[in-house]
Amino acid sequence: MSHLLGIDIGTSGAKALVINPEGEVLASAGAGYPCQHPQPLWSEQDPEDWWRGTVKAVRKAVKDAGLKPADVAAIGLSGQMHGSVFLDKRGKVIRPALLWNDQRTAAECEEIEARAGGRRALIRMVANPALTGFQAPKILWLRNNEPKNYDRLAKVLLPKDEIRRRLTGEFATEVSDASGTLLLDVVKRKWSTRLLGKLELDPDLLPQCYESEEVTGTLTADAAQELGLTTDCKVVGGAGDCAAGAVGTGIVKKGLLSSSLGTSGVMFVHSDEPQFDPKGRLHTFCHAVRGKWHMMGVILSAGGSLGWFHHTLCTMITSSGKRKQIASFNQLVKEAAATPTGAEGLQFLPYLAGERTPHLDPHARGALVGLTLAHERGHIVRAILEGVTFALRDSLELIKELDVPVRTVRATGGGAKNAFWRQMQADVFGKKVVAMAADEGPAYGVALLAAVGAGHYNSVEQACKAAIKTTEEVKPNAADRKAYDQAFPRYQRLYEALKNEFPQ
Ligand code: XUL
Repeated sequence: MSHLLGIDIGTSGAKALVINPEGEVLASAGAGYPCQHPQPLWSEQDPEDWWRGTVKAVRKAVKDAGLKPADVAAIGLSGQMHGSVFLDKRGKVIRPALLWNDQRTAAECEEIEARAGGRRALIRMVANPALTGFQAPKILWLRNNEPKNYDRLAKVLLPKDEIRRRLTGEFATEVSDASGTLLLDVVKRKWSTRLLGKLELDPDLLPQCYESEEVTGTLTADAAQELGLTTDCKVVGGAGDCAAGAVGTGIVKKGLLSSSLGTSGVMFVHSDEPQFDPKGRLHTFCHAVRGKWHMMGVILSAGGSLGWFHHTLCTMITSSGKRKQIASFNQLVKEAAATPTGAEGLQFLPYLAGERTPHLDPHARGALVGLTLAHERGHIVRAILEGVTFALRDSLELIKELDVPVRTVRATGGGAKNAFWRQMQADVFGKKVVAMAADEGPAYGVALLAAVGAGHYNSVEQACKAAIKTTEEVKPNAADRKAYDQAFPRYQRLYEALKNEFPQ
């Protein structure tokens, strides 16, 4: 009994990954599921789909790793943050879960800030402002809009914690994901009874809150049978996907920051103390490391901007109505790399789905500014990559304002696989950027938390030190760094110039 399993309940699918105690990945497997948008700005999933995906992915990963049921000692859970699974008193799901990217709760965010005595008072209680994606506004939305469902409500869980309930029968969460509910006193690492009182929410609605590497239960007989594991297998707290990804890239000590480029983009920095952006533009959450915190800036369309360009403008519809790719991502980035730094005056704002950091503006929109007849496709791709990287630099600047030291940036996610984009990050950030040897995302981070829970390591820091290796390092190129330093204030001014137009 020495191997560990990490499970990530992502937005597009579940992933399971098996490691040995040294942190080597033996196998991983995924299973996709759909996302429903029953109304514009709504985003929902059926928790049953997460469970089916989990069972499929775990069985395949354990089989591919060649393990017997008793070989898996512990499981770590990760998942999309902020979502709400509403359960009745018999543990039945009341309605589909509302997700992190669901934008229906603007009125409830205002209600929360008003009940708390204003945004600053709210930030003092729970370290963050009310944002439409967070869990607390979703609970109020249910109360305000579906009172019959609210009357049946007995518990609210985050996505990965619903999978924990299916695995162990326990109602539990841990501090990193709980921070994104807006109901946790992030400084004390406990539910905020003060805010719960002001919102007139029963504290019994919430699960028990653990530290991330603590054991929260063991598999039930049914779950063990369904997954092909044993009832001795422990389940540790785990982490929300951002903190889990950070553990998986070793962002567990001062001076380290990760830039994660997936559909969304996340700049995640470790902090020994809880520190706050007074305007709430950066999130301040508990880290998955005991007694530590982190700040992060989240941009909503990072790789998503390039994905949008590729999908809409680099495909054609064939005579049979099928969409056919006419250029690969690699081809696009190659064309971008052949154009000069600054894309000959073309600039891109990546706010295709509104923006969180730094604008907290659901009305913000994407823009391509400065087009001329001389611009080609490569210029546009370069402008997109530069615009997304500038958007991440906005978060870096806020982190610097808080005096949090940043020595090295660890690049992770799909965007980090590309050497050209990694160099661009070094030039735009003015920092050394390193790549990771194994870039397996959040599932890897929580498998390491499971290794701590199973007793292979004394602390998360020790597990990271033993398991995580970096590879290639790039330094900023002086000329490009200077050019980007000059272009960045122009990029920032564009949003200021357009922000009053967006809502129109
Ligand atoms: C973090 C956030 C996303 C989700 C989805 O604040 O909203 O990263 O966790 O993965």
